[in-house]
Amino acid sequence: MISKHPHAEQAARLRGLLNEANYRYYVLDDPSMPDSEYDRLLRELQQLEQEHPELLSPDSPTQRIGHAPVSELAKVTRKNPMLSLENAMNGEEFRAFHARTVKTLEGLGALKGEISYFCEPKFDGLAVELVYENGLLVMGSTRGDGVTGEDVTVNLRTIRSIPLRLRGAHPPERIEVRGEVLMTKKAFRQLNEAQDEAGEKPFANPRNAAAGSLRQLDPGITARRSLDMYSYQLGEVTGGPRFKTHMETLEWLKELGFQVSRETGKAEGAEGVLHYYARMAETRDSLDFEIDGTVVKVNDLELQRLLGSKSRDPRWAIAFKFPPRQAVTRLLDIDIQVGRQGALTPVAKLEPVQVAGVLVRNATLHNEDEIARKDVRIGDTVIVQRAGDVIPEVVGPVMEKRPPNARKFVFPHKCPSCGEPVSRPEGEVAWRCVNLQCPAQFQGRLEHFVSRKAMDIDGLGGKIISKLTDMGKIRTLADVFALQKEDIASLYKKGDTAAQKLIDSIHGSRKPPLGRFINALGIRHVGEATADLLAREFKTVERLMDASEAELLQVPDVGPEVARAIHGFFTNPANRRTVHDLLELGVEPEPPAATGDSLKGKTFVLTGTLSRWTRDGAAQAIVSLGGKVSGSVSKKTNYVVAGAEAGSKLAKAQELGIPVLDEPAFENLIGHTGEGR
Ligand code: IVH
Repeated sequence: MISKHPHAEQAARLRGLLNEANYRYYVLDDPSMPDSEYDRLLRELQQLEQEHPELLSPDSPTQRIGHAPVSELAKVTRKNPMLSLENAMNGEEFRAFHARTVKTLEGLGALKGEISYFCEPKFDGLAVELVYENGLLVMGSTRGDGVTGEDVTVNLRTIRSIPLRLRGAHPPERIEVRGEVLMTKKAFRQLNEAQDEAGEKPFANPRNAAAGSLRQLDPGITARRSLDMYSYQLGEVTGGPRFKTHMETLEWLKELGFQVSRETGKAEGAEGVLHYYARMAETRDSLDFEIDGTVVKVNDLELQRLLGSKSRDPRWAIAFKFPPRQAVTRLLDIDIQVGRQGALTPVAKLEPVQVAGVLVRNATLHNEDEIARKDVRIGDTVIVQRAGDVIPEVVGPVMEKRPPNARKFVFPHKCPSCGEPVSRPEGEVAWRCVNLQCPAQFQGRLEHFVSRKAMDIDGLGGKIISKLTDMGKIRTLADVFALQKEDIASLYKKGDTAAQKLIDSIHGSRKPPLGRFINALGIRHVGEATADLLAREFKTVERLMDASEAELLQVPDVGPEVARAIHGFFTNPANRRTVHDLLELGVEPEPPAATGDSLKGKTFVLTGTLSRWTRDGAAQAIVSLGGKVSGSVSKKTNYVVAGAEAGSKLAKAQELGIPVLDEPAFENLIGHTGEGR
């Protein structure tokens, strides 16, 4: 008798848990454990197998990774070629396919009633085939030309939605499973961010990224790319059950542990399919992977057999594609648009072109660097792309079609709206106009100025603002406070009373807390919280206006970039003028009073020794102002108060980017100094 390994049971238990977790996550879409727990169990199993290599088995979840790189991908020739699909580019072409299918089946006397179709997303990845023998994954290959593909078994093994061993006690002798390897939109974004950080070229789309990742010679690279696989077609089966419909085969694939799309559906006749197609076109953008259409298959396997195949495509299925999201057109010119925060965005003026059902005339070119990176020139033929609700963008030029007179675009250094010089802070991609009076930015700034967290003026909405600016009644932020009843009466049906109400409301907003006043000015990088800190530090707007960058840097939470933005804002004479006018028109920002609940909602952590405070005294002061004191630093901590010999909590705060207050800054925040220890 073979004696059992003392750790065999433990290894089997861990493998069972990990495989079950995969199945629950990918197939049932019902995760059984958090990722961290999965990783912990995997490490436990890895360690066990390392200590007892005799326990290793090829289908262990640890065996997805760690295969050695190869010098080239071996060719695989398959017995049953992987077919391709005919395309239907629109409803008319689909109806033609349906009519043809009906005719063929009627000719064979095989049709009873409507054709039942099974509809699936058309995954935009790359097709692969998996072969399992006696339950074990023995070969995985790319489609290639259909007959000959490449052996990418070790790479496919790294994909967690591919089972290394089939589920169930009685696996079929041999099966072929076909499906699509793809990269989710999220994984794609993360990969391109990483590529960018590493100074590498970004991938053009998730499909290219998936293809590039799967065809790696080093499976270690594939493993890091988080690929996914959806199975959609059962190939040849030896020693398995018999099925009547395609839908049943997919159910079986799920039972065996394969991930199958959840967006599938049965459809009766052409109308049913068109209905499914329309629904998928709508859900398309909410899926976490790219699809480029639907695949429509005759559901009955006997009818499929009768229909047979042409040389490369089956007659029982068709790819019913969505309209393309890219189109080619000419770049006529480049305009500059000025955003609410003053960012200058280059906009491509295009020869109008249909993209995914919408006529596109303008598309974004993002910023100066992107124009240079893509080498887009005026006069070029360009590829335009539209994805869902996203603004259309220029992907790049079609180099072969560049005319000799194509012209490089020179980015303007003056704001096209106000003519003031623009600046591009170091490390940023956008040129900006910092002139507070710039008309293009003005509407947005005004709306922010009167909003609840700023001057809090009731009754001054976007529409009224835009009428008043059009009428020339408001040209600067200060003009709001110079408005007279007569200026606005004509805007209302019930002229006088409504106008008076608005005037009263403006008048009632003349004494905002200084923090809200600073926030109202709309300085870049200065939101509510920073504005409050500035108010506490400087007490009056005049002092803030005259602060040097070095002084600004003393404020907790204010780094070099923010200090530069504030200083830059107040060096602009137009901005200074606006503030002076506001004060002259009776606006009186109230300096912060450190009483009551000024620290409400703020969590503090105290560390090190303060010279004028005991730990308890400082904590009491915080609590009396509505704040909370916590023992450990986390993302939820608002401030860390650090005295002498502060240790790990200070380090943690710095790591998490939490503002650190020294003793004077702390006292400034709470409004008084300590009484001694
Ligand atoms: S079935 C004999 N189903 O589309 C049927 N293919 O244009 C063969 N594809 O090479 C394919 N999603 O890469 C099928 N749900 C789906 C699919 C799908 C995407 C791809 C596959 C195929 C190509 C043909």
